[in-house]
Amino acid sequence: MGRAMPSTTAPRTYRVKSFGCQMNVYDGERMAELLGSQGIAPAAEGEDADLVVLNTCHIREKAAEKVYSDIGRIVKDWGRDDGSSPLIAVAGCVAQAEGEEIMARAPAVKMVVGPQAYHRLPEMIAEAVAGRRAVDTDMPAQTKFGALPARRKVGPSAFLTVQEGCDKFCTYCVVPYTRGAEISRPYADLIAEAERLVEAGARELTLLGQNVNAWSGEDGKGRAVGLDGLIRALAEMPALARIRYTTSHPNDMTGGLIAAHAEVEKLMPFLHLPVQSGSDRVLRTMNRSHTSASYLAILDKVRAVRPDIALSGDFIVGFPGETEAEFAETLRLVEQVGYAQCFSFKYSPRPGTPAATMDGQIAPEVMDERLQRLQAALNASQHAFNQASVGKRCTVLVERKGKLEGQWLGKSPWLQSVHFTGEAAIGDLVEVEVTMGGPNSLGGQLILA
Ligand code: 5AD
Ligand code: SF4
Repeated sequence: MGRAMPSTTAPRTYRVKSFGCQMNVYDGERMAELLGSQGIAPAAEGEDADLVVLNTCHIREKAAEKVYSDIGRIVKDWGRDDGSSPLIAVAGCVAQAEGEEIMARAPAVKMVVGPQAYHRLPEMIAEAVAGRRAVDTDMPAQTKFGALPARRKVGPSAFLTVQEGCDKFCTYCVVPYTRGAEISRPYADLIAEAERLVEAGARELTLLGQNVNAWSGEDGKGRAVGLDGLIRALAEMPALARIRYTTSHPNDMTGGLIAAHAEVEKLMPFLHLPVQSGSDRVLRTMNRSHTSASYLAILDKVRAVRPDIALSGDFIVGFPGETEAEFAETLRLVEQVGYAQCFSFKYSPRPGTPAATMDGQIAPEVMDERLQRLQAALNASQHAFNQASVGKRCTVLVERKGKLEGQWLGKSPWLQSVHFTGEAAIGDLVEVEVTMGGPNSLGGQLILA
């Protein structure tokens, strides 16, 4: 779909800005690789990029408004006085949800590309250079991954999207609309991409999906496998040290996946399993199809096979109709579980979702107050979890240098950030004795072998 505008020169540099979830981070990396394969180089820090890709998030309020103010800022800050203007592309879930609207509202935007269509960026750039604005929000199943260039250089911890989309239709959530129906990437493609990532330097892979534990496929022998089968196959790769996966839905927490936590040494003792609320009535109106008791029963099963598992979750406060007593049930659940870390959000009505028009929308000040209380409880839980690590030894995957001379930063098996000083290098797995458990991280000392 083309619209006339003055033609411009082909971009030589790009910047991709990703917002929101880890799946967007993954998509942002793949877009960067794609642009790199077209001979476009990453813009140096502090320098204007010829092409800016805003890889947007639509899950909560103001995300779309933020995109418009970002566009305004890019245009305003454009430092070249040669009459040129930046090529701006809007990608991600805001692009999917509001494609035509963005084109109408923001003339500076030359390309709008949805999460399933970004493999078409090179053609869209050519169109834009020729003076035609383009929107592509098609959702063809599975064409994008095959059309992307192979992975080249990655850090010690890399993301691998294995599944996209969601069929759960929680009543507050836009994901089923912006990311579409659940699809699983084929087993062979994933093994091949994992091999490339490991060859390129990854020692840890985090398997990503909106409903990652709903992943299903067929292994090399034609047998049906679930996520646990994929994890077991990846664990066979000698140079791969750690495997993680996120985000899971309680209803897809199979016995096989729970057993993998006991049996696969490379599968890290961490489970992100959102519950959203501790009230069964709220969970019903959210269409969550689990109760607080069934959720807790799953955690018990996982803990039975992997007692040291670190637990994480997502919460929404102020869902329409949530009473003070129902919110108190959420606080009680937090107390019961003893989370290692969590994400918590104020309910945000998303246009087009059933909850947006439900009775009993909660006043902002009530939401604020509930979020504060919940976050105080979650922070205390996280701090207690970190303090329980003090005096213990753990293996740390070194990810980057710290701010201080000789300091390194990495992750414990339980996804805690750990800083320590001593001889190390990025990508090393080192033994650290934990000496400090802070609210957000651990401090420790390298144990010399
Ligand atoms: N309002 C607030 N939080 C939301 N989430 C999803 N949709 C909304 C919404 N409309 C949260 C859920 C989900 C996480 C990714 O974002 O907690 O698990
Ligand atoms: Fe959204 Fe629910 Fe699907 Fe998660 S499970 S992506 S919250 S609809």
